[in-house]
Amino acid sequence: MAILELKNVSYSYNNLHHPVEAIKDMSHSFERGKVYAIVGKSGSGKSTLLSLLAGLDTPHSGKIFFEGIATADMDLDEYRRTCTAVIYQNFRLFPLLTALENVMYPMELCNLKGRKAENTAIGLLEKVALPVNARDRFPGMLSGGEQQRVAIARALSMNRRVILADEPTGNLDTENGDNIIEILINLAHEDNYCVLIATHDLNIIQKTDEVLYISDGKIAGHE
Ligand SMILES: Nc1ncnc2c1ncn2[C@@H]1O[C@H](COP(=O)(O)OP(=O)(O)O)[C@@H](O)[C@H]1O
Ligand SMILES: [Mg+2]
Repeated sequence: MAILELKNVSYSYNNLHHPVEAIKDMSHSFERGKVYAIVGKSGSGKSTLLSLLAGLDTPHSGKIFFEGIATADMDLDEYRRTCTAVIYQNFRLFPLLTALENVMYPMELCNLKGRKAENTAIGLLEKVALPVNARDRFPGMLSGGEQQRVAIARALSMNRRVILADEPTGNLDTENGDNIIEILINLAHEDNYCVLIATHDLNIIQKTDEVLYISDGKIAGHE
């Protein structure tokens, strides 16, 4: 069964003077174990699509299903905390929390604290190969590549199985970008995560299992 499915989903930004229909009647399904590239020019609707799938926005019509259950019928806070996670081009770590504390934060929201939470967070930072001596540093004291590793580890906490990556290598040099993509691909192919990557980068597109071309809020093709 698909882990995520969009059925006839539409979404508009209701600006007073210029309403924008950002996603138009979109249907598609996404499976675990696969990496999807979401490709389209700026303004085509990639970020809006990821926000909808993350439960940060809700469709104005149509439905999103997670493991067969309509997200509209789920507790949206719970869905956001335990089902999907987004990583961003500019990392969006909490600046006043250390790397380790950033990864523990979603667990604390779910009342998982103490030694067990810390050990889980350390395991996740090992999974993304963050150097041990970087665990107790604040984001401002980490390189971009290290910050993105922490963001991925944080996304994996609470056992979320869908990773939505919005241009995750946009602020990284080629080498660090390649490393991040390799981590995301391994998560799908070795650990059975479902990974979506919005990107322009041809190098990344070539490495994914399926490519969705988005144009003007619609899926213009996939291969
Ligand atoms: N907060 C917002 N308010 C109004 N319009 C928005 C907002 N965010 C995005 N849009 C518009 O929605 C469309 C899709 O944007 P977006 O999903 O950000 O595209 P992409 O990520 O592919 O660049 C664009 O026309 C954009 O201008
Ligand atoms: Mg975008």
